Amino acid sequence: MAAVLAGIGGFLPPRVVTNEDLSATLDTSDEWIRTRTGISERRFVSGGLSTGGLAVEAGARALRSARADAVDAVDAVVVATTSPERLCPAVAPEVASRLGLGQVAAFDLTSACSGFLYGLAASAGLIASGAADTVLFIGAEAFTTLVNQQDRSTAPIFGDGAGAVVLRRGEPDEPGALGPFDLGSDGSLADLLAVPAGGSRQRSADGGLGHGAVPTGDWYLRMEGRPLYQQAVEHMTRSAQSVLKHADWSVADVDWFVGHQANVRIVRAVAEELELPEERVAVNIDRVGNTLSASVPLLLNDIAARGDLRPGDRVLLSAFGAGLSWGSAVLVWPDVAAVPVS
Ligand code: UT7
Repeated sequence: MAAVLAGIGGFLPPRVVTNEDLSATLDTSDEWIRTRTGISERRFVSGGLSTGGLAVEAGARALRSARADAVDAVDAVVVATTSPERLCPAVAPEVASRLGLGQVAAFDLTSACSGFLYGLAASAGLIASGAADTVLFIGAEAFTTLVNQQDRSTAPIFGDGAGAVVLRRGEPDEPGALGPFDLGSDGSLADLLAVPAGGSRQRSADGGLGHGAVPTGDWYLRMEGRPLYQQAVEHMTRSAQSVLKHADWSVADVDWFVGHQANVRIVRAVAEELELPEERVAVNIDRVGNTLSASVPLLLNDIAARGDLRPGDRVLLSAFGAGLSWGSAVLVWPDVAAVPVS
């Protein structure tokens, strides 16, 4: 028995923010952003759209892509997000209701940029445990709302969006069967990428008297790019190697490396360490930026929709992010419909 990918969909909010747009108010340039990160433009939520709305749109598209019998069977909704709709409650129950899925099991999980890999493993676990037969799993992020748009070291990097998959109970040897997985973390380096304020630590420290003492910057992302870059390359490479070993695949077996899009230089450095040729490395960061837990499913959807990723292709997924946390998985791509995200 295995969790099998049976549908995929993605959604990007309509507001496009180009490097030129950012350069108008920030001390940066299109040239710096493109050469250091590979990003040309990204999307920002606007007009009241937030994580829940992004999740609903991507979820609806994944359900349309899945076979009708899989849609009828959805009995759990999982949302990976690090930009929650609100601190409490989780957004997944609301997403399930808005999609008309009824009173199904629903919860959020938080694992930043590795959220899609952790969420895939958790969703597969729901199926393995018998708690669910079919899971709608969504990575959704309005993370630009947590980024100080006056901070040039973080503002150009992140974008908003959502990607979703439908997973159903199936057989380990059929296309779309997920796994093995490799997951890991290092909490000793949590401060390399963090939004310090807003949670219990800060509320407890100020005695619940208010937020006056909290420096404004603490409400926004703090990131130490350089050490993160090194950690990303190291852990994505090791995790990918470990999962390939467990799957008994060689690097030559991999048709597509679909890695988290944090920086095109990170993705290329990992591919180089793995000795994967460039033509097997999927990239869409130029158009979307770093969308955290939405990054991997948006990229899968993109390359499937344009016909580059075909049924039978062997796919290596790998992601790294805040926590620190990382994860990898493999699957043989199934015959699922994918629609371009505009
Ligand atoms: O999602 C997973 C977690 N996140 C990551 O994995 C992010 C990993 N890190 C990175 O992708 C890169 O470190 C960044 C893209 C964040 C930064 O690139 P970098 O090549 O490491 O640049 P840097 O921070 O070392 O800065 C180089 C220079 C500095 O100037 P000096 O000190 O050399 O004069 C910065 O002040 O670039 C300057 N700089 C900028 N210049 C123009 C930093 N940000 C900008 C900017 N525009 N936006």
